[in-house]
Amino acid sequence: MGHLVPLLLVFFGFGAPWPVLARTDNQTACGSLEINEIADFRKMQNCTYVVGHIRLAHVDFTAGNYSLESLASNVSEISDYLMVYRCNGLLTLQKIFPRLRIIRGQAQLFDKYALVVYENRNLRELGLVELLRVQKGFIRIESNPMLCFVETIDWMYLMGNATEQHYSLKHNKPHGQCPWCGGPLAEFDFLKNASEHCWNLNAAQLRPQPPRSKDCPPACGISGCDNAGICCDHNCVTGCYSQNCSLCANYQGKSGCVNQCIASYEINRRQCISKRECKDLGRIPLVRGYQCVKKCPGNQKKVLDAKGMIQCQVECKGDFHVKSAADLEDLQDCLTINGSLTIELTNIKEKIVEALENALVSVKEITGYLKVIHSAQLMSLTFLQNLDSIRGDKLVENKYALFVVNNYHLEHIWPPNHHVIIQRGMLFFHLNPRLCYEKIHQLQSSLKSGENISVADVSPNSNGERVICGDGVRSLKPVVEDLNSTAVRIIMDYMDWDGMETLIGYSYYYKEAPQQNVTMYDGRHGCGHDNWLMDISPNKSRRHVIRNLKPYTQYAYFVKTLTRTDYHIQIDAYSKIAYFQTLPDRPSPVVRIRGSSEISSQILLHWWPPSRPNGIIKKYLLTYEKQNVTKEVKDVSASIADLDCDCVDVLPYYSGPQPDDEDYYNKDQITYEDALPNLIYVSRYYDNRRKEFDKVVDYEHLLTMKKKEVPTTLAPTNPVLTNKTLVKKAAETYEMFRMKSEMRHKDMQDFDREKCKIRHAMPKCQNSHASVVQQVEEKCVVEETLNGIELPGNQHFYYIFNLEPETYYRVTVRACVDGVVNGCSNPAEALVKTTGLRIERLMKDV
Ligand SMILES: *[C@@H]1O[C@H](CO)[C@@H](O)[C@H](O)[C@H]1NC(C)=O
Ligand SMILES: *[C@@H]1O[C@H](CO)[C@@H](O)[C@H](O)[C@H]1NC(C)=O
Ligand SMILES: *[C@@H]1O[C@H](CO)[C@@H](O)[C@H](O)[C@H]1NC(C)=O
Ligand SMILES: *[C@@H]1O[C@H](CO)[C@@H](O)[C@H](O)[C@H]1NC(C)=O
Ligand SMILES: *[C@@H]1O[C@H](CO)[C@@H](O)[C@H](O)[C@H]1NC(C)=O
Ligand SMILES: *[C@@H]1O[C@H](CO)[C@@H](O)[C@H](O)[C@H]1NC(C)=O
Ligand SMILES: *[C@@H]1O[C@H](CO)[C@@H](O)[C@H](O)[C@H]1NC(C)=O
Ligand SMILES: *[C@@H]1O[C@H](CO)[C@@H](O)[C@H](O)[C@H]1NC(C)=O
Ligand SMILES: *[C@@H]1O[C@H](CO)[C@@H](O)[C@H](O)[C@H]1NC(C)=O
Ligand SMILES: *[C@@H]1O[C@H](CO)[C@@H](O)[C@H](O)[C@H]1NC(C)=O
Ligand SMILES: *[C@@H]1O[C@H](CO)[C@@H](O)[C@H](O)[C@H]1NC(C)=O
Ligand SMILES: *[C@@H]1O[C@H](CO)[C@@H](O)[C@H](O)[C@H]1NC(C)=O
Repeated sequence: MGHLVPLLLVFFGFGAPWPVLARTDNQTACGSLEINEIADFRKMQNCTYVVGHIRLAHVDFTAGNYSLESLASNVSEISDYLMVYRCNGLLTLQKIFPRLRIIRGQAQLFDKYALVVYENRNLRELGLVELLRVQKGFIRIESNPMLCFVETIDWMYLMGNATEQHYSLKHNKPHGQCPWCGGPLAEFDFLKNASEHCWNLNAAQLRPQPPRSKDCPPACGISGCDNAGICCDHNCVTGCYSQNCSLCANYQGKSGCVNQCIASYEINRRQCISKRECKDLGRIPLVRGYQCVKKCPGNQKKVLDAKGMIQCQVECKGDFHVKSAADLEDLQDCLTINGSLTIELTNIKEKIVEALENALVSVKEITGYLKVIHSAQLMSLTFLQNLDSIRGDKLVENKYALFVVNNYHLEHIWPPNHHVIIQRGMLFFHLNPRLCYEKIHQLQSSLKSGENISVADVSPNSNGERVICGDGVRSLKPVVEDLNSTAVRIIMDYMDWDGMETLIGYSYYYKEAPQQNVTMYDGRHGCGHDNWLMDISPNKSRRHVIRNLKPYTQYAYFVKTLTRTDYHIQIDAYSKIAYFQTLPDRPSPVVRIRGSSEISSQILLHWWPPSRPNGIIKKYLLTYEKQNVTKEVKDVSASIADLDCDCVDVLPYYSGPQPDDEDYYNKDQITYEDALPNLIYVSRYYDNRRKEFDKVVDYEHLLTMKKKEVPTTLAPTNPVLTNKTLVKKAAETYEMFRMKSEMRHKDMQDFDREKCKIRHAMPKCQNSHASVVQQVEEKCVVEETLNGIELPGNQHFYYIFNLEPETYYRVTVRACVDGVVNGCSNPAEALVKTTGLRIERLMKDV
């Protein structure tokens, strides 16, 4: 809870105009609202929906002379989130948001929360009486010491049963000290309109249900179906027919709710309107993206068309200098850059390559020059994927149309088969240590001038000196030899003698890859700021184990050699990218269990899938037992509700670093080359392949070269080269020597077989009653029998029947993964109490 405070403080003290965005159907859209004092409520006065967020922070409701009624708003929708933080004297939100029906959570507070009510010392109830849905994002109601009617809300319903959303209720007034829905705690007789779920004493929680929610076709999901069994429209939050829907999940179209705006224009992220309507609002219908906007975006200029209508036209004129992502806005959607483009990405910490790709995807022509300098992040110029020509109307130093200098990681210019014509002007390439001279030379044919590339302009000495250029790239052929759920052993083909001489070791690159479409340059921004993880194996062993992987996850990997330095060509060998998938493993516990009881003999349980399923959840195992709750436990029963929110990962199961662990992606990604600056060496490799053996022309020569290596038993004492038998024998001896020598090299690469063992889970014993000794002897495990109700892995709720009223039940749920022996998680527990008969009766009467 503590860490929220400093972040929230950031919001304090904002002040800016909050423009009314548009009026349609007597509705008024507003932008995000920051409310820090009573006077700020005026900004919200006319809003019926908010495109953005609302933040009430540090408002002192005890100050000033105002009536509560004057704070009332007509806001019924918030597209992003609602935050209420440290408001003094605020008793309820009912007066402020009497009509709020939906919080969409399209953008979330801290990328996570859609509704946050935090540290409001006087707040007694939420009172969001009309709220029907929080579409996305988490809910956090915390540290409001007087707050009641928190447990009385069906949060599950508000989130539409979504298992990826969570709510957290903590440190509010203990449930046991709060009134019930409908009346104060002790006075059940006052319960007239009692309902299990309410926002305060007077307002039951509205929970419209589809006509039918049980026995619908499975395709309907949680939307339910109508009485005829036809699925309710998933575009409608509150009902079955999109035409009659009063609350659209996505967009409000002409004739009902729709998924996206088709042949119409999106306005305020919630509605589709016609071109005409858009214009009538004084707005501009943008053809790209079909949006109805107030002003032309970024680099688009207002122009009047033939009919005198305002349109937005992209205009990209001038010399553009891109140093950071912020500079890209002016280039968005440009087809032609009427001027020159300079890319200079000196800030290696900024991840910008993807933004470059997106911003420059449409560029077909640059009328001036293209200059790429000091951009260590770039591995290629493929971000200009549609560029056809550089016109060269303007040149660098009156000579160069393509000027590429000092780009440390640049390895490619254009993708294969992509030709960029240079209409006028020459090339200038220097200090690109990884860009092969040949690749630059291939651009000769793109030069319209026909002039030859000169060495002064494009030097083989300052380009490509840190990589192997030409065809001589040796390829590695790694194979996955063995794996378990968290580790994989990769084995390389044998390196021959020449390779061995210069080999220092291998580096292994790997990353998660749900799809098999990864390329080596994906997300690589040079400088080690890429998302490939790397293991270095600084020895000649051809085996390596990558550990700490996530279970049941597909990874992409490739291998590269680390080689010794000679002068200035490097012959690192690469493998192609290949994929493997780790094995499944035991899952983590289910994230949370929630129980509710509307009928005294029943409990409805909900739970969330494990945060780390580690495989396909085959089933859930559920147990329940009556629990004798002692006096003390009863007293803290208020915190039991807390417990069931918080029994998160009771005993966390470690399954390797997770992407949300802080260090997961920050794992030391500094490239080895940077750490060991002299790992570069020469290619002697190709010309002299197998020279050690091939050069031996005859037996005598062999003897003089390798006397010690020759097995003495076979070495003739008196070689007479004219004797045919002898020659034959010599050849045999030579062959034997060659094999021995090779064997020795192979052994050097195989020395660590033991160290690279992958530990495997033991198989299930044949005999299901095997003793411990038998288990050890037969290297197997007995499958433990877990009792409980088995439920399919896609079901996340269960009704428990035939219970006693007003009684505590201890409930446990385990998740079990397919294909793993004893693959059930630790149980997550919750204590749930059934409703009393009296309340049940009261509720039936209503
Ligand atoms: C908008 O308000 C006017 C008058 O205030 C009313 O005549 C009209 O029907 C309203 N339109 C909608 C869509 O509610
Ligand atoms: C709200 O609408 C009223 C009447 O149209 C107008 O007088 C007032 O200025 C508006 N308030 C804001 C904040 O726009
Ligand atoms: C508050 O305002 C009302 C009328 O607007 C006035 O009658 C009353 O005296 C004011 N109270 C204070 C304390 O200023
Ligand atoms: C809210 O809208 C209703 C009609 O829809 C109107 O009568 C009322 O004055 C509005 N309230 C505010 C605070 O604008
Ligand atoms: C949530 O699931 C429960 C149990 O399946 C169901 O009764 C309820 O109608 C669902 N709620 C929504 C909003 O779909
Ligand atoms: C109970 O409901 C009735 C009608 O639905 C209503 O008239 C009455 O005011 C309600 N009582 C309370 C205490 O909310
Ligand atoms: C929409 O509501 C109207 C009036 O309630 C009803 O006549 C019509 O049948 C409904 N449309 C559908 C598709 O159910
Ligand atoms: C580029 O700008 C010049 C000077 O303003 C103009 O004459 C030319 O037509 C423009 N070219 C393109 C393709 O927009
Ligand atoms: C791979 O495919 C997935 C899904 O089709 C897509 O989201 C992702 O962007 C692709 N990745 C690359 C690098 O192409
Ligand atoms: C609960 O209490 C009853 C009566 O005191 C006792 O018979 C029973 O064994 C207890 N059950 C458990 C699980 O402790
Ligand atoms: C070659 O030498 C071997 C043994 O040294 C001998 O037995 C053989 O007769 C010789 N052959 C010829 C053709 O001289
Ligand atoms: C997988 O094998 C590695 C290497 O032997 C071992 O460290 C790891 O514990 C194994 N993982 C599991 C889940 O057994």
